[in-house]
Amino acid sequence: MSAPRTIALITGASEGLGVEFARLFAERGHDLALVARRADRLEALADEIAASGRPRPLVIALDLARPDAPGELGAALAGAGARIEYLVNNAGYGLNGSFSSLPIDDQLGMIDLNVRSLTAMARQFLPDLKATRGGMLNVASIAGFAPGPGMAVYYASKAYVLSLSEALSEELRADGVRVTALCPGPVVTGFQARAGMSPKAFAAPPGVASARETVLAGYDALIAGRRVVTPGLVNRALAAGLAWIPHSITLPQLAARQAKRLGGAEK
Ligand SMILES: NC(=O)c1ccc[n+]([C@@H]2O[C@H](COP(=O)([O-])OP(=O)(O)OC[C@H]3O[C@@H](n4cnc5c(N)ncnc54)[C@H](OP(=O)(O)O)[C@@H]3O)[C@@H](O)[C@H]2O)c1
Repeated sequence: MSAPRTIALITGASEGLGVEFARLFAERGHDLALVARRADRLEALADEIAASGRPRPLVIALDLARPDAPGELGAALAGAGARIEYLVNNAGYGLNGSFSSLPIDDQLGMIDLNVRSLTAMARQFLPDLKATRGGMLNVASIAGFAPGPGMAVYYASKAYVLSLSEALSEELRADGVRVTALCPGPVVTGFQARAGMSPKAFAAPPGVASARETVLAGYDALIAGRRVVTPGLVNRALAAGLAWIPHSITLPQLAARQAKRLGGAEK
């Protein structure tokens, strides 16, 4: 019997940070599996990585928000003889708008992907991570450091990711499994369009970390076994402000900021 193919599994690899994660992990010598819904984009990225002389990543097109997706993915990877050494839980999205204006099914869909699926994926691949003494990189956000009126469910979902990751980093230490929460600030990707933000949000604020800097910070922290990483000085200052300034001050400011970013009917 041939030895299992040891891989890094990257979710949300069809756009934005996930594409940058895939390129970086490939550059660093990891064999990959790429997951998202848009198969054509995943195949194009797998071709690009193969053209650079590295093993062609496995491509699995899947809607991770479906409750049975992690089990299906586990079966597909086992069928391909793959074992997960690094799990990058990156797929996620936000919705800009007030809790009362956004359709409840859309807001629950965000919880299905950002919270439920991420948790199920962590549990699904834990035996592999323990066997390989690998690691899990969960993409949270600086939004995880405070409540965010105007994007309330998204901020709450990222607070969950941050909290879960920190707790698991402690629980799994004895098993040799590293768990890192990556807390990016704003990065221009497909995120802003999906969130329904105005064009004003489609430009990176000055001084924040780029997509490449963001994934590099996450990768380095994961390999080093750091619990939480916020890429870039500006983002670290923002995160510290969100974490330490009383909510009575940050809540109205965040509400005003999100209102300015509204792109649609609520504007
Ligand atoms: N960009 C920012 O400013 C920012 C800041 C902080 C944190 N983050 C976080 O960073 C992560 C990556 O976001 P991004 O900025 O790279 O956004 P993006 O460009 O919109 O990429 C999102 C990725 O998630 C995938 N995805 C969405 N729904 C999915 C589903 N149901 N099943 C499987 N895959 C799904 C998308 O692929 P398909 O559409 O092909 O399925 C896409 O590959 C997210 O967790 C986000 O919350 C982003």
